Amino acid sequence: MAIERTFSIIKPDATRRNLTGAINAVIENAGLRIVAQKRIAMTKAQAETFYAVHSARPFFGDLVSFMTSGPVVVQVLEGEDAVAKYREVMGATNPANAADGTIRKLFAESIEANSAHGSDSVENAAAEIAQFFSGNEIVG
Ligand code: PPS
Repeated sequence: MAIERTFSIIKPDATRRNLTGAINAVIENAGLRIVAQKRIAMTKAQAETFYAVHSARPFFGDLVSFMTSGPVVVQVLEGEDAVAKYREVMGATNPANAADGTIRKLFAESIEANSAHGSDSVENAAAEIAQFFSGNEIVG
């Protein structure tokens, strides 16, 4: 299996409840390495760019408002098959459908306040990482 990098966001519902360390423990226990991490206040422009693919969806405005409602922790995760593995570790988008032991089953409040984001492909991971990190901020 290939060593990949994926992009992760610990969302405002989780930082608000002081869950960054608990989520990082799930990530690390799954064998993924956190090779870059920073806590930021995402701007409206950053959120609109990041979620541009969803701009026509009815929840777009709510999603942008939510992602700018408090601090987020942006991360680069590295490991074997990291993109698919992190999607598995996060669980289903809607926590009602998430499997036991996943981040969203353990911590998420709703389909909006669902605690974590993870890239859905290697290509999107590269683009998402480049939006938030310069190369010298990632130390593998
Ligand atoms: S996925 O994982 O991309 O297939 O999920 P999708 O259903 O397409 O959702 C994309 C992102 O939009 C968020 N979302 C919502 N936000 C607010 N309100 C509603 N109703 C809603 N439905 C979906 C969802 O949490 C996904 O966020 P990310 O950060 O991409 O996981």
